[in-house]
Amino acid sequence: MLLPVNPKAGYLVHKEAIDRAIHDVLDSGWYILGKRVQAFEEAFSQYVGVGHGIGVANGTDAVELALRGCGIGPGDGVFTVSHTAVATTVGIERAGATPIFVDINPSTYTLDANKLEESIKFVLTHNSIFYVRPKAIVAVHLYGQVCDMPAIMDIAGRYDLTVIEDCAQAHGASFAGKSAGTWGKAAAFSFYPTKNLGALGDGGMVTTNDDNIAQRVRSLREYGWKQRYISDVPGINSRLDEMQAAILHARLPALDRENARRRELADVYGQTLVRSSLTLPGVAPQREHVFHLYVVQTDERDALRSHLADQGIGTGIHYPVPVHLQPAYQDRLPLPCPLPHTESVARRVLSLPMYPELTAADANRAADVILNWSNSKQAG
Ligand SMILES: Cc1ncc(COP(=O)(O)O)c(C=O)c1O
Repeated sequence: MLLPVNPKAGYLVHKEAIDRAIHDVLDSGWYILGKRVQAFEEAFSQYVGVGHGIGVANGTDAVELALRGCGIGPGDGVFTVSHTAVATTVGIERAGATPIFVDINPSTYTLDANKLEESIKFVLTHNSIFYVRPKAIVAVHLYGQVCDMPAIMDIAGRYDLTVIEDCAQAHGASFAGKSAGTWGKAAAFSFYPTKNLGALGDGGMVTTNDDNIAQRVRSLREYGWKQRYISDVPGINSRLDEMQAAILHARLPALDRENARRRELADVYGQTLVRSSLTLPGVAPQREHVFHLYVVQTDERDALRSHLADQGIGTGIHYPVPVHLQPAYQDRLPLPCPLPHTESVARRVLSLPMYPELTAADANRAADVILNWSNSKQAG
């Protein structure tokens, strides 16, 4: 069976370096927040192009701590998308703030800047309904493509909102040469095993250029300590461990090469699927897409998915139910504007196999099966 993602293949390619890194940590006798975490924080923040990286336990904590580090909390409204991993919403709520969902552009799958401004205006003119102060935007660079950041930064400037980037799916992506993670006040990364830079367990990082935010996040990730055993503020326990940091550091030098390979595989899919009835992922101008996922759309998504499974080709759905329609959130969060694209995309999206170790032959085979399916549907 061809898997939709394959973290074990990623391990095997880097096995020697990863095994060595793990053994070094085992021998060191120091397992949490040590010199390997510090070295990886420096290497990764340098890779992103910012001054600080603070290793945390996972990407959800990174969203929470990036917001809290920027002073966002209870009573604050945070504009974001409903078409994302639920983790984005979890992080915002854990910071004590209120997520406010905005519709997406159905071609790029990311925040629609025009809808963002519409939603902000609506909340500002209906504050007796919303009970929150518009305070921040969490821009999610979904599937590996950076949002329309110049437009978002312009809106944020005009309405005095803090921008946080959710870069969990966008390690190494950029817009006009400017990397994901360098646009906003702070950014959140996840190193979940299937991510473009993946650990062999959980991991995350907050990055920022701001010395004060970095200091606050560093303290918040470990009980609010400035000085050991003395909590200045109520923090949490969200530490990156030495093993994951050493593994991630060993894999970092291959990230750009692996992202380039993902783009090659996207081209392989595109060359065949452009002749099909499917909607292909749109790459907006000036974007360096890193194809964390290759997501197509069709009205007959479930039929295509089961046809592919019959042919031994595994796929994923990211994500089947928008956050605002999930039981935990439905009818509970403010919705200033309807989300038609978010709701339609959730019914239509299908993620094809995508990981750097996927062979062009396997990608071609998957594309051929899809094209034949599409042709037979059209003929029928
Ligand atoms: C867009 C997005 N944000 C946040 C997260 C949270 O990351 P983690 O799973 O490491 O908590 C993820 C990963 O699942 C994600 O895809």
